[in-house]
Amino acid sequence: MISSISAAWEALHAAPEQTLADLFADAGRVEALSGRIEWDADGGPAGILFDWSKTHLSDELLAGFEALAQACDFAGKREALLSGAKINITEGRAAEHTAQRGVGAEPSVEEAMALHARMRMLVEAIHEGALGEVKHLIHIGIGGSALGPALAVDALAHDLALVDVHVVSNIDGVALEQAFAACDPATTMIAVASKTFTTIETMTNAHSALKWLADNGVSDPSGRVVALTASPEKAVEWGVDETRILPFSESVGGRYSIWSSIGFPVALAVGWDEFEAMLAGARAVDEHFRDTEGRANLPLRAAFADQYYSRLRGCQTRAVFAYDERLSLFPDYLQQLEMESNGKRVTSQGEPVDGPTAAITWGGVGTDAQHAVFQLLHQGTHLVPVDFIASIAPGDALDPAHHNILLTNCFAQGAALMAGGNMATDGKDPARAFPGDRPSATMLCDDLDGANLGALIAFHEHRTFANAVLLGINPFDQFGVELGKKMAKDIEAGGGDFDASTTALLARAGLA
Ligand code: F6P
Repeated sequence: MISSISAAWEALHAAPEQTLADLFADAGRVEALSGRIEWDADGGPAGILFDWSKTHLSDELLAGFEALAQACDFAGKREALLSGAKINITEGRAAEHTAQRGVGAEPSVEEAMALHARMRMLVEAIHEGALGEVKHLIHIGIGGSALGPALAVDALAHDLALVDVHVVSNIDGVALEQAFAACDPATTMIAVASKTFTTIETMTNAHSALKWLADNGVSDPSGRVVALTASPEKAVEWGVDETRILPFSESVGGRYSIWSSIGFPVALAVGWDEFEAMLAGARAVDEHFRDTEGRANLPLRAAFADQYYSRLRGCQTRAVFAYDERLSLFPDYLQQLEMESNGKRVTSQGEPVDGPTAAITWGGVGTDAQHAVFQLLHQGTHLVPVDFIASIAPGDALDPAHHNILLTNCFAQGAALMAGGNMATDGKDPARAFPGDRPSATMLCDDLDGANLGALIAFHEHRTFANAVLLGINPFDQFGVELGKKMAKDIEAGGGDFDASTTALLARAGLA
């Protein structure tokens, strides 16, 4: 018997392919495929416009994907996510990042609020000078314990940091040395950010940072450390005083942890109010995601487009271009969120997935990327769905020409990808021909403040979850990172039985 999921996919495969030009014959298309998520701000409602009209999603496809979502029990899985059920079944855990924003099981929301209050006290005490003069923070973490803080500090603190924050993730000592060179040890604090408090890169960097403080005359280096972790007992063992340990719940996944105490450097750099604004922007998206059904649910609609391009059109990648310098780290952040969550090959039940899972996320910042990789987007042989992200309000105070040119270019690229044409004067030169009919979506923020950034991140979290539901996979584990880690440990311990190439490389580098 054919399952309702297979039947929904079959119907989707049978839907007629329409060009973007065909779809734009419908005068109501832009309105039908656009939507805003809003929240209250000082000057009235603020929010983000999501325009999916330049994708190939037709009425028929949207109805087909709605049927697929129903067959996959999207509503039930969303309820499980938001009520704190143990949906990460391979690890027997809930995934309660939304509780950090106030949406979730009551006890988890209360716990998050209490831990936020504790974090706020420490942030404000540092701002008030209770721990001596603090001008710099070296935030040490990796993966989800670094990418969110790096993105948010870069996006929000750019010219008004209360404390100068350096995020160091790589075990390559060059990264830490660069941070040392920019900081005065006498006025530097160290944040050790690790959910597990065991990650080798983070712990090695943390040891070296303490040594740097000691070598440079700081009498009590441990007294300059704040630990951000879901394993407070390990931080105590490591020598951090309990008053400077900011715990978070085990049910908050690493790549979803910016909302927890892992957000400490953000609050320290931009102040508590801006960190709270991030939580509020994310909460507006949570409420939209929780309360909206079918295609009107914007993260779910984005997942419909993702599945359409990867499964029905064979696109192996998805590109995201932020037309905003402050979001230059956004593609890096998304890579972990999407590829570590959905780069899987078995379903939640352990069966092989019968098609592609996460597309490869890549991207950059506009307009730079236009002068580098857009050639392929316009004329290459790969079809790459593109997301554009921009802010109506500028981030700079220079001549408005800067921001106007930035935005015009962003919108022109989407239009050109869709329209195509021929740049030759006679309109016939194949080298100058643009096939067009290439898809893009646009996310237009009113401004790029804490609330917009929080909303943008939460939108992508829910989009990632929705994709996982449509694929039947568990987005909350990441066993794929373990094998390489184990082999590195084996090498370090002098053991392991390696292939001839690896053995030769180790010998050449003097490591065996
Ligand atoms: O190796 C992958 C990973 O577990 C990520 O999922 C996580 O964000 C990162 O390592 C860091 O882990 P931790 O916060 O425990 O140091």
